[in-house]
Amino acid sequence: MTIQWFPGHMTRAKRQIEEKLKLIDVVFELIDSRIPQSSRNPMVDAIVGSKPRLVLLNKADLADPGRTAEWMAWFRSLGHEALAIDASSGAGCKEIPGKARELVRARIERQLAKGMKPRAVRALIVGIPNVGKSTLINRLAGRSAAATGDRPGVTKGQQWIRSGSELELLDTPGILWPKFEDPKAGNLLAAIGSIKEEVLQVDEVACFALQILAADYGHVLRKRYGLTELPDRLPDIRSAAEVLEAIGRRRGCLAGGGHVDYEKAAGVLLRDLRSGKLGRLTLERPAPAEVHAAAPNEL
Ligand code: G4P
Repeated sequence: MTIQWFPGHMTRAKRQIEEKLKLIDVVFELIDSRIPQSSRNPMVDAIVGSKPRLVLLNKADLADPGRTAEWMAWFRSLGHEALAIDASSGAGCKEIPGKARELVRARIERQLAKGMKPRAVRALIVGIPNVGKSTLINRLAGRSAAATGDRPGVTKGQQWIRSGSELELLDTPGILWPKFEDPKAGNLLAAIGSIKEEVLQVDEVACFALQILAADYGHVLRKRYGLTELPDRLPDIRSAAEVLEAIGRRRGCLAGGGHVDYEKAAGVLLRDLRSGKLGRLTLERPAPAEVHAAAPNEL
């Protein structure tokens, strides 16, 4: 479901998360591994504040593993614990309770010192629509516990979902709004299918994606679409449109008069990108100076 994020919705979503923060120990910030920067909410730091946070790079099954390692190192350099996961298959998810416990180790040790049995760590999942919040809740709950659908402003009774003996999750995630105001983020979110294409021109989204793909994954485009003359750099939208035209011709996306139907060609490219047919790709990278030695979990 697409929702319009008007300022009132954003304020309400922010307030709802702030209310939930009072109940929990740790925040799980869920992002999309293919666009780790653009799938973050612009105000997440201000909203989450000093609450311990575990950044979960979800859909790592679709992302470039080398880049995921770079991004994890980047998040760690910011002081956040990070983990790459695939909530659909469950890969990486078993490490979540242990990481959450590490983040509240001081409290647990205090309770143990007093001879108390430490209670389960309480967590809230936050993220923009489509990053996989419901899928992760279901995965951690081990059953179909989360109702899908994003509706800011709708409050339900809060319930805890137990995940093993060490973790309790709030049953409704904190829904944050995406970065639409940034055109780059808007294009990337549309490219991976996180925001509806109608919001943007599908051929423009495809051209934007092509510029990144040509620079970083040119060999993939050359192979899949037989683009023998693809340059490494597509400096502007016009050069990207030429490549889209070539893809359209190869794939028979023709309109009347033998002209290429750009929208159809864009559809072919974006479907291939989203479904993983182009391989595991990441469309953003952290600035090189910000990358430190990576210590990724295997996925
Ligand atoms: P949300 O609550 O944050 O809005 O996201 P949700 O869990 O509804 O997930 C959005 C889509 O992303 C779903 O696909 C879901 O299956 C998919 N997804 C979630 N986590 C992962 C992951 O780690 N890897 C991959 N490859 N996909 C993931 P959908 O097409 O909208 O629905 P469906 O195919 O599950 O029916």
